[in-house]
Amino acid sequence: MVLACWTFLLIIAGALVTSNDAGLSVPDWPTSFGSLYKIPKLVGGVKFEHTHRMIAQVAGLLTIVLAVWTWRAEKRRWMRILGWGALGTVIAQGILGGLTVLFYLPPPISSAHAALAQTFFCIAVVIAVFTGQKWVEEQPRVEFDTRRPSLFTLTLLSIFVLYVQLILGAMFRHHGLSWWPHVVHAVVVSFVLAWTAVRALTVYSNIEAVRRPAIVMLSLVIAQLCLGFTAFLTRVSWGRDSVQPELPMVISTVTHVAVGALLLASAVILAIQVWRHAPVAFEERLPQAQRDPSAA
Ligand code: HEM
Ligand code: HEM
Repeated sequence: MVLACWTFLLIIAGALVTSNDAGLSVPDWPTSFGSLYKIPKLVGGVKFEHTHRMIAQVAGLLTIVLAVWTWRAEKRRWMRILGWGALGTVIAQGILGGLTVLFYLPPPISSAHAALAQTFFCIAVVIAVFTGQKWVEEQPRVEFDTRRPSLFTLTLLSIFVLYVQLILGAMFRHHGLSWWPHVVHAVVVSFVLAWTAVRALTVYSNIEAVRRPAIVMLSLVIAQLCLGFTAFLTRVSWGRDSVQPELPMVISTVTHVAVGALLLASAVILAIQVWRHAPVAFEERLPQAQRDPSAA
């Protein structure tokens, strides 16, 4: 949970770098102004860029602790693999951050850095879920899902459309694409997420572990649409001729990025809880009564 919360803070710190146009204010990497450990004067854009690097270093350390601890203490093999996966992801993320500086912020690398950041956040969140007391001790209540498309398929589709939205948003934010693919695709995202949440809330409202993330996801998507319009107004409509980043634009775009990360994480949690509590019913999995109602 500590790593997940820290990573959320790191995403805000990273988004502040981009929104304040501070990406190249520390021009070297892995050093900062020639030193690996000295803290430079935190003025102008350096304040954002160097603070982001320091918060990222702590996240890296926390991930090393988590991976080693998981490897030593965890009985579930797949959890040990997930711990190492988190470490590999944070290393790749640090390298992408460095590369984007060394190559002067090319849109594909900056966008990959933005997308991997949220992926890493989701990994930290799912590790917190899988090691939580509830997950470990609870005997899950299972209701097989016979509907098609299944709720689980819908949750996977939600994650997919959110990723596409993240990449389109990041490519626009980092000047690699126009704004309209992101805005048009927001319609698809809204439709798929609303379908998923409404299905979860109407069919499985009695299972708290499913109901809760579905409500959170639905609320976040509504908030995200409002923030998207505000980001659009401040960045595209009003901000076109501004000579430097202005506070309303910084606040709305950073909040839009942060809520985007929470939204993706809520969709991932929903998928995991649906997989646990409402798995897809295949013929051989169903109890006799559900397979042949006349036999009941
Ligand atoms: C765990 C490690 C890291 C995470 C989770 C992370 C996360 C982020 C996020 C979320 C953004 C904002 C992207 C956006 O708003 O579109 C960002 C931007 C940035 N990060 Fe990181 N970061 C990490 C490590 C690093 C490192 C080690 C560097 C080293 C230089 C770095 C350099 C940058 C730069 C330069 C930007 C601005 C890119 C631009 O404006 O195009 N990051 N980071
Ligand atoms: C639920 C739907 C939406 C989601 C999940 C979403 C998500 C995102 C994400 C994650 C980013 C930043 C990517 C990065 O980290 O670099 C972004 C950027 C952006 N989004 Fe959205 N978005 C949504 C809807 C909208 C809508 C409806 C609008 C406008 C009408 C909009 C306008 C923007 C703008 C202008 C940016 C770039 C901000 C900048 O240049 O700093 N978004 N979006």
